[in-house]
Amino acid sequence: MGIDQAIGMRRIALVARAGALLVALAGALAACSPHAGDVAAPGPADIAYAESAAPADPALAARYARSCKLCHAVAGAGAPLVGHRAAWAPRLQARGEAGLLASIHGGRGAMPARGQCPDCSDQDYRALIRFMAGAQ
Ligand code: HEC
Repeated sequence: MGIDQAIGMRRIALVARAGALLVALAGALAACSPHAGDVAAPGPADIAYAESAAPADPALAARYARSCKLCHAVAGAGAPLVGHRAAWAPRLQARGEAGLLASIHGGRGAMPARGQCPDCSDQDYRALIRFMAGAQ
């Protein structure tokens, strides 16, 4: 093997090693970031708030209590918790209030269509989104 050829081979080996390092780095970074669609983990204070919070309006509070609350006040159920802004912010950012309303209408993931509240109006849903996303 000539000297030029030997240098060329070493260069290729170096580039390959750098490539492997980059792949490993990218893998480590991906392991740290939450999976898309995951709900940010709530802390004990977030969970305590979600369990006790209710909309101020009594009629809305009654609808909330027999539908949304069954999932949105229970940690680990896959639903963003009531008042847990870290979980709501990326959803609001991605779809806006109108997009979240559309998700309720059609259902999303484990949430059934209309959030199990057949008699909720769009006005109720919008008020519930604001209450649950902590924007009251
Ligand atoms: C049976 C459980 C369940 C009930 C009842 C329920 N939800 Fe949900 N909800 C979920 C789950 C699970 C998600 C997360 C879905 C996903 O992104 O995979 C969710 C997500 C949402 C979102 C975010 C949608 C988006 O596009 O990110 C809104 C808004 C919402 N729910 C509102 C409500 C309202 C209002 C009610 C009551 C009228 C309600 N939910 C009732 C389980 C439920």
